[in-house]
Amino acid sequence: MALLEINALSKVYPNGTQALRSVSFTVERGEFLAVIGLSGSGKSTLLRCINRLIEPTSGSIVFDGADVTHIKGDALRRYRQQIGMIFQQFNLIGRYSVLQNVLMGALGSVTTLDSILGRYRPELHTMALRNLEIVGIADKAHVRADSLSGGQQQRVAIARALMQEPKLLLADEPVASLDPATSHGVMRYLGYINRQLGCTIICNLHFLSLVREYASRVIALKYGQIVFEGSPAEITDDWFRHIYGDEAVEVEIR
Ligand SMILES: Nc1ncnc2c1ncn2[C@@H]1O[C@H](COP(=O)(O)OP(=O)(O)OP(=O)(O)O)[C@@H](O)[C@H]1O
Ligand SMILES: [Mg+2]
Repeated sequence: MALLEINALSKVYPNGTQALRSVSFTVERGEFLAVIGLSGSGKSTLLRCINRLIEPTSGSIVFDGADVTHIKGDALRRYRQQIGMIFQQFNLIGRYSVLQNVLMGALGSVTTLDSILGRYRPELHTMALRNLEIVGIADKAHVRADSLSGGQQQRVAIARALMQEPKLLLADEPVASLDPATSHGVMRYLGYINRQLGCTIICNLHFLSLVREYASRVIALKYGQIVFEGSPAEITDDWFRHIYGDEAVEVEIR
């Protein structure tokens, strides 16, 4: 059974914009799937539909064999707990320590009062420190999150997502705010989490050079439709022009 099945998914926003047009694909366990396409092609809409931050207009989402397209309440909460999310802007709480930010990823398994009072079970502390070690940043556990560099903050955000022990990690342009060297640093940790922890990853990316280095498979969106599906190596110059347009020139990030 595939981890995720997207069937004829469409999204029309209330203002009439059709952001996804009958998108279908399957994600197997252990894949590192990159989603590419021009700005506005529907990449973020797709990720937000998958974790049900926005409601698809039609089509279905099947996760781990269960149709999650219309689940609500507790079922939706349980579904979301299996999916970690990482954003371009990290979304840390700057005045909190790195460790506190990571612990917030365990909300769901902690009551609101306990989290306000900073009362976390010792095993969650141990887990948070271990996750900080995974992203190579355990020595920063007790500094304020806003004192870290962008790349370090994104690694904290990854450690926070790992607190859910997610089956699937969704990353929406996780390195778009970072310089090239730092981008590779963050992507390498995502690769490690994918291979060593067996976490399936779907990652929106702008740079094909990163796709080629880290993804096991790619889908390309254009005007909300899938126009390419295959391995990174299969994206020839002709495909590149088809996906990004004739005027596009590939910029490499090394
Ligand atoms: N909340 C919204 N209401 C109306 N239209 C929206 C909304 N969010 C996105 N759109 C539109 O839907 C289309 C797809 O947007 P989306 O953000 O999914 O693209 P994207 O591929 O993630 O782009 P980028 O690379 O710039 O992040 C665009 O035309 C966008 O303007
Ligand atoms: Mg986007």
